[in-house]
Amino acid sequence: MGIVVDINKDREGGQKPSIDALQRLVGEDLQRVNQHILTNMQSPVALIPQLASHLIAAGGKRLRPMLTLASANLCGYTGTRHIGLSACVEFIHTATLLHDDVVDESELRRGQESANAVWGNQASVLVGDFLFSRAFQLMVADGSLQVLKILSDASAIIAEGEVLQLMTANDPQASEEAYLEVIRSKTATLFAAASRVGAVVADRPNIQEEALESFGMNLGIAFQLIDDVLDYSAKQAQLGKTVGDDFREGKVTLPVILAWRRGSEEERDFWRRTIERLDQTEDDIETAIGLMTKHRSLNDTVERARHYAAIAKDSLGIFPDGDMKAAMLEVVDFCVERAY
Ligand code: IPE
Ligand code: IPE
Ligand code: MG
Ligand code: MG
Repeated sequence: MGIVVDINKDREGGQKPSIDALQRLVGEDLQRVNQHILTNMQSPVALIPQLASHLIAAGGKRLRPMLTLASANLCGYTGTRHIGLSACVEFIHTATLLHDDVVDESELRRGQESANAVWGNQASVLVGDFLFSRAFQLMVADGSLQVLKILSDASAIIAEGEVLQLMTANDPQASEEAYLEVIRSKTATLFAAASRVGAVVADRPNIQEEALESFGMNLGIAFQLIDDVLDYSAKQAQLGKTVGDDFREGKVTLPVILAWRRGSEEERDFWRRTIERLDQTEDDIETAIGLMTKHRSLNDTVERARHYAAIAKDSLGIFPDGDMKAAMLEVVDFCVERAY
């Protein structure tokens, strides 16, 4: 499948935005976070570290823990609490991935077989539960009720988002608002919490906490909008996930919503058959992409992402310029222009 939307075009100066600068700036901390993750996924029950390390060692971008580290650093924090909390944030993320791949019946994750494909649904769900619980143990170890509230609220909202998504599945008439509510809950809330926690440990004034929360929230919305474009347009090998999963399971994302709203009655029959009744043939995905191209629904989803990305960037306006802020701004561009 070819790239339908050229969201990877070079920026001015030929440099594609990347997460490298941020990775370099928080590199030492990130190593300590990875160490913390390895230590804390241990269990005498052998299948737990075996399954967890299959997913964790496969990498992943570590975006959310980097947001916690970056926020703490941007707020001038010099202590060590951000390490454990970043690990906690990645545990929550990893748990949701394990559960999400079961729900979505996905067989590829981070470029390798998903845990559910290797060990089955039961083991994946239960190890996901373990990682969620470990995340709560890490919050308790941190000892701040304020942090506990932010991250436990986020965990509940993520779960609500995934359930809400079940309720909008297979309905191409779902509204853009309903879709936004889903992605805000299932994805953006953790980006927001991860970013806010960095400011909380640094004990910054509320206005800075709120700015970082808004940064994370809007970045997270942009991130998921692009994820939903990539599910139709990415190169699978680069993405490390199966392209076309959303269509095959009848997930109603913005590209589908826009194509439905802009489509003819005949085209709507196509969406009713494929998304509502899940009556699909091999080449239906190509037809779907054709309709999305015709109605610019992938392009416009990217445009929506750019809008939220701009809000995320403006949120950082109250912080002084510097390397950390520049790296965080670049991460916003990366999330919009990413191919993985
Ligand atoms: C995947 O998130 C789940 C979504 C919210 C789309 P990432 O793309 O950040 O996953 P990893 O951690 O880099 O594998
Ligand atoms: C993100 O939604 C799910 C989570 C927040 C865990 P997706 O279902 O689109 O994520 P991917 O594409 O499987 O990574
Ligand atoms: Mg999924
Ligand atoms: Mg996806």
